[in-house]
Amino acid sequence: LRHLLTLECLPRPTLEALLDRAQAMADSGEVNARLAGIAVCTLFFEPSTRTRLSFQRATQRLGADVLGFDASTSSTTKGETALDTFRNIEAMGVRGFVVRHSADGAVAELAAAAAPGTALVNAGDGRSAHPTQGLLDMLTLRQATGTDFSGLKVVIVGDVRHSRVARSDLHALRTLGAGEIRVCGPASLLPDADTLSGCTVTHDLDAALDGVDAVMMLRLQRERMAEGLVDSLENYHRDYGLDARRLRRASTDAVVLHPGPMNRGVEITDEVADGPQSWILQQVANGVAARMAVLEALLG
Ligand code: CP
Repeated sequence: LRHLLTLECLPRPTLEALLDRAQAMADSGEVNARLAGIAVCTLFFEPSTRTRLSFQRATQRLGADVLGFDASTSSTTKGETALDTFRNIEAMGVRGFVVRHSADGAVAELAAAAAPGTALVNAGDGRSAHPTQGLLDMLTLRQATGTDFSGLKVVIVGDVRHSRVARSDLHALRTLGAGEIRVCGPASLLPDADTLSGCTVTHDLDAALDGVDAVMMLRLQRERMAEGLVDSLENYHRDYGLDARRLRRASTDAVVLHPGPMNRGVEITDEVADGPQSWILQQVANGVAARMAVLEALLG
């Protein structure tokens, strides 16, 4: 693996090896020095809490040096491009880059310009991909359900159209052979047919929840949304918000995931987000181990 830009077309054995390594690291609380002497930059041109900090923690736990880049105090505010920013940091001897950008394909463009020996991880580009979120979500599903993916019935709910998380989750679920993948949301927030290939699509959340083992909620991405795609937050919550009453339609031990940040009271209620079926903070914990496994595979 040279870079990790997407989970699309990642071979199943590679994906499973990353999951197994992440699980081993999570089980043992491993700290090692495999990346000692290597510098990794978290190059974020868009805001983040979970991804940026968990990559920084993962980097430290592998013994590497971490350089944080803050776009708001950087020379991008003077007009420097992302490519020039990347090249300048690379010239300082940095070997690993964890990059988030608002434009689809922006991380792949930087990867194409990288010197041999430099590795990039896509930490989210536009609506396209968020591969390490997909990885940590699969790790969480595997832990929570204890089953092989072939027996898993999962539903992805909400703003799929703007979600790089949903795209990476769909790629991983298909690769791992998930038994049934349902997608539910208003027509205005569903993506093109290619993205939904192999999924059962519905606009009725109650029907979508019937008997599922896992509910993967998505954030309503108002910052990426054109006017009018959602008429009101109240109506969105009424039709697509997950509350305890609705969750009872899923299987009794169904688990609830959300990548964060959550719009509480919009796509999910407090009682579900903080309730016994929520694995949301476990997703965050798994993020450190999943990102350690990726950094080790690319740079170790
Ligand atoms: N899930 C996720 O990408 O969260 P952040 O935007 O806080 O990194």
